[in-house]
Amino acid sequence: MSDESFISIKNISKHFGNVRACDDVSFDIRRGEFFALLGPSGCGKTTLLRMLAGFEIPTMGEIFIDGQPMAAIPPYERPVNMVFQSYAIFPHLTVAQNIGFGLRKDKLPKAEMDKKVDEALEMIAMAGYGHRGADELSGGQRQRVALARALIKKPKVLLLDEPLGALDKKLREQMQLELRDLQREVGITFVFVTHDQEEALTMSDRIAVMAAGKALEIDSPVDLYEKPKTPFCADFLGTMNFFEGSVDSIGGGEAVIKTAEVGSLKSKGPNMDFSTNDRVMAAIRPENIEVAFEQPSSGSFITGKVRASAFLGDRAHVYINVEGRKDPVLTAMQNMDGAASQMSGQDHTVWLTWSDEAVILLPQDAS
Ligand SMILES: Nc1ncnc2c1ncn2[C@@H]1O[C@H](COP(=O)(O)OP(=O)(O)OP(=O)(O)O)[C@@H](O)[C@H]1O
Ligand SMILES: [Mg+2]
Repeated sequence: MSDESFISIKNISKHFGNVRACDDVSFDIRRGEFFALLGPSGCGKTTLLRMLAGFEIPTMGEIFIDGQPMAAIPPYERPVNMVFQSYAIFPHLTVAQNIGFGLRKDKLPKAEMDKKVDEALEMIAMAGYGHRGADELSGGQRQRVALARALIKKPKVLLLDEPLGALDKKLREQMQLELRDLQREVGITFVFVTHDQEEALTMSDRIAVMAAGKALEIDSPVDLYEKPKTPFCADFLGTMNFFEGSVDSIGGGEAVIKTAEVGSLKSKGPNMDFSTNDRVMAAIRPENIEVAFEQPSSGSFITGKVRASAFLGDRAHVYINVEGRKDPVLTAMQNMDGAASQMSGQDHTVWLTWSDEAVILLPQDAS
């Protein structure tokens, strides 16, 4: 992947009547990048993808691919191909006929066509399946055939709209890795729509988190998770405990936040661009909270009572009631040496601690 911008989305809006499906969206996608559009249902992901493909015309704004403005370019002349959520392969054709479908118009000699189809079968690890009927395949195999069909024309960009949505969890996880390997191998720019945060984190070089037609944050998976800039993004990617408060003091890379629920919280988190008295959310990830059965001898802590715990095998989620706070504080602990099983039962008094670095400040008014 290079740093060069390859797809440029500039101030794109799409209105359907009074619905703003996309609302002034701007960002760039790099050449060879695996780029995810992530957001809840109805936030405008498919609409944005369809505008890249040329199936929808933007109400406002411009799209460039490889430096070329797309406004006057019809879908079939764009250097893109699209894979849809419900794998649209033709059940009455063979695997080879499905994969070669897009090449028909090119009128290639049969030998050359067969060679390309064989290469594509190889690429999706289905060599020898060419003669199978498409209706004799598993879900994962069908999805791979749909991918091969989209890739055989060697588009510069592949647009994928929830391509793994119809697969069960195990197969989905396997396909995530395969798709990622395939993308690296062919070096094509992938724009991948999903509403599954784990899928976006696993697969992408970068993610655009969308909400209500807007692209809220665009960053690498690690930075989005560890340094979110909006409460929405912090909560949508993973889970977050929020403490409402205001900035009491700030400077020199640290801040003290006054909260009504748990008193003062110190932050040495990533976002320090606030002023005294600003309303903020102090946010702490569940896995950054340590749960102890005894009062720590130093440092800051709050105390509470175990309300419930969900044992998940490798880890446990423990909900802790803290006096003065409506929502329980969620903590996540690894079940190392059976630590999580000690949390079963209720009403143990526990002490919660975290590092100042784990307290992330976010603006309260951002959506
Ligand atoms: N052709 C259309 N006519 C009217 N409204 C539309 C049309 N297409 C989409 N919308 C609306 O635009 C908004 C965004 O839709 P879009 O399909 O882009 O969402 P999405 O993020 O892909 O959601 P999902 O995860 O459910 O697929 C929704 O409110 C939807 O109802
Ligand atoms: Mg959609």
